[in-house]
Amino acid sequence: VTIRLKDYTQPDYWITHTDLVIRIHDDHTEVESRLSIERNGDGELPPLKLDGVDQTIIEMTIDDVAVEDYHYEHEQLILQPSKAQFVFRAVTHIHPNENTSLEGLYKSGTMYCTQCEAEGFRKITFYQDRPDVMATFTTRIEADKAAYPVLLANGNPIEEGELEGGRHFATWHDPFVKPAYLFATVAGDLVRQDDTFVTRSGREVSLRIFAEKHNAHKTTFALESLKRSMKWDEERFGREYDLDIFMIVASDFFNMGAMENKGLNIFNSAAVLASEETSSDDRFERIEAIVAHEYFHNWSGNRVTCRDWFQLSLKEGFTVFRDGEFTADMHDRTLKRIKDVDFLKNYQFPEDNGPNAHPVQPQEYIEINNFYTVTVYEKGAEVVGMLNTLVGDELFRQGSDLYFERFDGMAVTTDDFVACMAEVSGQDFTQFKRWYTQAGTPQVDIEQAFDAQTNTYQLTFKQSCKPTPGQSEKQPFVIPVRMALLDQSGQELTIDCDGDFNADTQVLTLSQAETTVTFRGLSEAPVASLFRDFSAPVRVRFDRPEADVLLLATRDPNAFNRFDAIQQIYMDTILSLASGAFDRVPDAVNAVVEAALNDAELSHAIKATLLRLPTYPLLVDNSDTIDAQRLVAARDQLLNHLAVQYVDQWQSMTQSLASADPYRFDAAEAGRRELQGLSLQYWVKAGSDEALNYAEALYRAANNQTDRLNGLSAVLKSDDAGRKEALLVHYYRQWKDDTQMVENWLSLQTSATDVSVSQLKDLMQHEAFDLKNPNKVRSVLGGFAGNFKSFHDDTGEGYQFLAEQVATLNAINPQVAARFIKPLENWKRFSPERGEMMKSALSHILATEDLSPDVLEMAQKALA
Ligand code: ARG
Ligand code: ZN
Repeated sequence: VTIRLKDYTQPDYWITHTDLVIRIHDDHTEVESRLSIERNGDGELPPLKLDGVDQTIIEMTIDDVAVEDYHYEHEQLILQPSKAQFVFRAVTHIHPNENTSLEGLYKSGTMYCTQCEAEGFRKITFYQDRPDVMATFTTRIEADKAAYPVLLANGNPIEEGELEGGRHFATWHDPFVKPAYLFATVAGDLVRQDDTFVTRSGREVSLRIFAEKHNAHKTTFALESLKRSMKWDEERFGREYDLDIFMIVASDFFNMGAMENKGLNIFNSAAVLASEETSSDDRFERIEAIVAHEYFHNWSGNRVTCRDWFQLSLKEGFTVFRDGEFTADMHDRTLKRIKDVDFLKNYQFPEDNGPNAHPVQPQEYIEINNFYTVTVYEKGAEVVGMLNTLVGDELFRQGSDLYFERFDGMAVTTDDFVACMAEVSGQDFTQFKRWYTQAGTPQVDIEQAFDAQTNTYQLTFKQSCKPTPGQSEKQPFVIPVRMALLDQSGQELTIDCDGDFNADTQVLTLSQAETTVTFRGLSEAPVASLFRDFSAPVRVRFDRPEADVLLLATRDPNAFNRFDAIQQIYMDTILSLASGAFDRVPDAVNAVVEAALNDAELSHAIKATLLRLPTYPLLVDNSDTIDAQRLVAARDQLLNHLAVQYVDQWQSMTQSLASADPYRFDAAEAGRRELQGLSLQYWVKAGSDEALNYAEALYRAANNQTDRLNGLSAVLKSDDAGRKEALLVHYYRQWKDDTQMVENWLSLQTSATDVSVSQLKDLMQHEAFDLKNPNKVRSVLGGFAGNFKSFHDDTGEGYQFLAEQVATLNAINPQVAARFIKPLENWKRFSPERGEMMKSALSHILATEDLSPDVLEMAQKALA
């Protein structure tokens, strides 16, 4: 069934209070609900429709009178109330132990936990499971006391006690109205780490992180991250925490990263548990960002929530923007920007360029779980960022304050958010809102002309946007271009122009299909540095003299644009080598690499970004049709060239960046390790035994996971089969009892080295693997699908193998299964023969019996 935004209507009834009793037993769980319901509107009473799946009805009453007359169709219970206000009560049985979808209430290892977003609550009890129905909640959980000593739910704890037969209970009350998707409960034998946070108005909040015993020694970093987030949200966004207690629970079985349930966030253990022995720097940064993200949702998501799921980006785009600002403030703003843009171009641009392209505000869906996408999240964050760019920091904050104040306790729309920004700034965002409704990445084609007679320089911008599914015509977007004009030494010139240019922010705003801007008072041709810090999520085509690009790549004071120019040079080189247009690496590459290598001003981290080659997804997305293995050869050729050409530098850099200091996670140290890892990879690639020995020694002597992985990945990329095998065996022996390390071990074998389908099959037979565990599935299948060379090897067996796994997973966990269709969806970008093989794998998926809506929707779109 297709759900459409234009069909939205308010519900016929509201639920004002929800009272739950959850009785956990070994073979089933009994859920007793009491819903205080009232009619929305007046006139004749319409039927009440409650969503519910996979429940056995034991008893139902309305105001204590048994409900006899009801029917159940299309996963809804339909009954006819006789009053405008009443209490509906239901007792149902559910089976969390058999719930492998990990939606609703399920068993994760030794504990019970929930995941209700988007529509999991209907697997717990009958309900109007939609985000505009907001109620206060009281939750009582009962379970065996020895097996489940810890019983949690949203809000504040109000009562606990003993029951007969070794059982006990706890009751929680959440005074803030919320939709069902924010409900959570947990029962388990969990270890807890405590702390407190005093809010700026002086309230003391108790902070608690819970984990199963085997994970319990890794919660400190998340707790510290949480306190930093709470403080930052007060300072930067004026947002204070509201309950007396804030809890985080780590779960080994989790479909996504984490979930912002009110007062009780539940996390994928991989997204919360950190230790220097087991977590790389990247992982530390990611954990800090996810802890912040979920915490920030308390305002952008929970206090102000979404009216319907078409508004998902209202909370996700805004919250990703907020967590990005947080990370930028905590560490290095430019580096964060480079990483975010790289991520966007690697994942979101291809999505926008493929069969699953959809607007930030989708207009229709079959399965909402398929729309937790990089478009809704990351492009959504870019759209919020553009609003910030257009109104400036001060007004953006005012607009945000207005939004939270005006809509507190309500379920609203992206329009409501934009209206606040319009109101505080006096700007009209009608045209800007096309960013929410039009899919596809706009392309901006630029031409320049310099006139030495009049001392003027002209830039002409033409924007266009390719058709996307269901949208053949696009209207022009509002595009902010943060820019500078540089002289030949890289100095910024003062801008005097006739365009819509804001001199304070250095932002030129485009709103027409074509715009020509004239810059005055220039005695020589400037070099334009455009879209600084990636001020708009667009593709830029600007054919200009190589000297201009070289100037930007070596001297642009805006480090982001310098990075961007270098990446462009690498990209052009690789694609030209692949197409046969070049037969050797051009000198321009050496010039920019040398400039980066010898630049003493650059931080280690930024230097590493300048020396890293573009990834395969980026290369594929920038070519019309690609021969996969020629692309591999071309990228390898450039890599080898740089490795050999600068082997002395790689060696000395690797050696001089070594450190015996105790591990510290901060921007400077992470940058040092990052650059050391990269130079080591080049050094090993140049082929000496000395380099390989260094890598192995780094692995063996490491006192932290970053160094360990730097050493190991360099070895895994070499041809020394014996050494690779030995280190992998060593790694598993050493770490087989550590959940996160085992996940890493699985993914190293599928992503960091060449892997065949038969090796994958063996790996999936290993005791460490479990098809019911999403992290392990992602480690193996996700690692493989991201391993461009192996996944796209000449046999094409990888496609069929992936398709078979999707078909199996469909019956176990539809959400996870659906995610693995993505690696096949851009089959049109590949050469015809390969495209056909990818297509036939998709057809295989589509031919599977009992396809879930999740998989069906993704496979159909991929083939359309
Ligand atoms: N709201 C969560 C977050 O972004 C993601 C939950 C997604 N869950 C799902 N089943 N689609 O933090
Ligand atoms: Zn989120």
